[in-house]
Amino acid sequence: MGLAFGSTNGQQAWEGELLLPAMSLKEEIAKRRTFAVISHPDAGKTTLTEKLLLYGGAIQTAGAVKSNKIRKGATSDFMEIERQRGISVSTSVMTFGYGGKLINLLDTPGHKDFAEDTYRTLTAVDSVVLVIDCVKGVEEQTEKLMGVCRMRNTPVIVFINKMDLEGQDPYSLLDELEDKLDLNVRPMTWPIGVGATFKGVYDLHRSSLRLFAPSKTKVERDAITVSDLKDPLVDDTLGMDPANTLREEVDLVQGVYGALDHEEYLRGEVAPVFFGSAVNNFGVKEVLDTFVQIAPPPRPRPTDAGEVRPEDPEMSGFVFKIHANLDPNHRDRLAFLRICSGRFERNRFYHHVRTGKQIKFSNPTAFLAAAKSVVDEAWPGDVIGLFDTGNFKIGDTLTEGRDFQFRGIPSFSPELFRELVNMDPMKAKQLDKGIRQLTEEGVAQLFTQQPGNKKIVGTVGELQFEVIRYRLEHEYGARCEFRQVNAYKACWLTSDDEQALEEFCRIKQRQIAEDKDGNPVFMAPSSYMLELEERENPSIVFHTTSEFKTAVVDP
Ligand code: G4P
Repeated sequence: MGLAFGSTNGQQAWEGELLLPAMSLKEEIAKRRTFAVISHPDAGKTTLTEKLLLYGGAIQTAGAVKSNKIRKGATSDFMEIERQRGISVSTSVMTFGYGGKLINLLDTPGHKDFAEDTYRTLTAVDSVVLVIDCVKGVEEQTEKLMGVCRMRNTPVIVFINKMDLEGQDPYSLLDELEDKLDLNVRPMTWPIGVGATFKGVYDLHRSSLRLFAPSKTKVERDAITVSDLKDPLVDDTLGMDPANTLREEVDLVQGVYGALDHEEYLRGEVAPVFFGSAVNNFGVKEVLDTFVQIAPPPRPRPTDAGEVRPEDPEMSGFVFKIHANLDPNHRDRLAFLRICSGRFERNRFYHHVRTGKQIKFSNPTAFLAAAKSVVDEAWPGDVIGLFDTGNFKIGDTLTEGRDFQFRGIPSFSPELFRELVNMDPMKAKQLDKGIRQLTEEGVAQLFTQQPGNKKIVGTVGELQFEVIRYRLEHEYGARCEFRQVNAYKACWLTSDDEQALEEFCRIKQRQIAEDKDGNPVFMAPSSYMLELEERENPSIVFHTTSEFKTAVVDP
């Protein structure tokens, strides 16, 4: 089966079967849109995702995605989380057709302890939809996620959700987006009231009113088109007072924010903003319609040998996520490959750049909502699952033979650090192998400190330590304990002055470790100490993110 379009007449265009004669690489690229929905937990990411999938015909009933969600309350029960993580493989990539486009929606875990998974998924998308809770505004995780998007200038569409609740006023929400996320916003719709008085939105560019009716199932009602806001139909529809308030507000808004410039959006400089209520299916269609109009197709990607364009005929791609099978009898893992150029074919040998091996895949899978299915080919923008017996690390590149590595798939400094202590001296080898494999999967990062080969594990959440302890014991038969380590950030070090770097590493030996590829890392004990060292060592750069500089293992 190939990923292809049936017809191009709107919503159900994609049929999942090859109905048209083969399209050219250029046409395949032009059809694809690969993106992720991101938000602080609870803002409505899962709900919005589900509504998008309903529009795309990828799921038939609400609740299909929701049941896979890792719940907040599950923090104490990490096995439940792992179980759900297993199920959620099927929603890792959701492919659907809409408006003549083939859309790959990459799921990101909502749980904050899995934030690193989300950061990495963001390296595989071409744009994002950011969901904001209108009551809570910009939250901590929103800022972090947008920080990652900013590193690659990822274009953003903002959806301000839960307008049926008593939220903040829309001006302060827009101000907050601009201030905290360093994002220029362009409201596309304007809310009429909020919470109990929320009546709908006015489309600032199409001069139309869309009226709100709380409904969890119905598809949105048709918009009412008005000649302009002076149209008496506005008063008839909304009532005199709300109509006048809307006129004043729209006047003000149009004076402050200009029209959306597509190029600026594509450069990640400005973001269109929509107001709505995902759970009530309100405002979702506008977002989707705008998305298919403006979101970028697969874009060129940087490598250490220059840029790779999607139109380049030779296949290339990178692994951004590895999913382990929790069943100890089936150790194979699923590596997620984002295709960046050319055409991927089943049963064809590809060059694994890091190890120099030639590998072919007989069962590459596509993820079609709930079901996985084998694909014969895939195109730039697509994500396929490759069964892996331990060849892949996150960040690995596959090509048709050329030796280059994709860049822009960095590790981020973990936020929690613990020393891994072996509790069973007879199982040192198993522990070593286990922690190496788990960190290759991206469960956590491993740093080694001398003397004594001290293993420091870094994560973004407490939960990962539980997961690691459990998996080491159940999958590798190794018991471990975690000890507190006094570290606040891991900073990768670079310098043009090699001597200065060596000297710094020598003096600070107790706070220096190596990452998995042997790069020197400074374990800053506090933000104060980090600033101090930065001031005192101006020739050294302290990075809180690193590229996955995968060293060549088997040249
Ligand atoms: P997340 O993936 O970003 O974590 O958020 P999720 O979609 O799970 O939504 C979090 C909660 O917010 C859910 O309620 C959901 O129903 C609710 N929600 C989403 N959109 C809206 C909206 O437009 N208005 C209102 N009022 N609520 C919204 P829950 O009680 O946690 O879950 P559930 O029992 O409703 O499923």
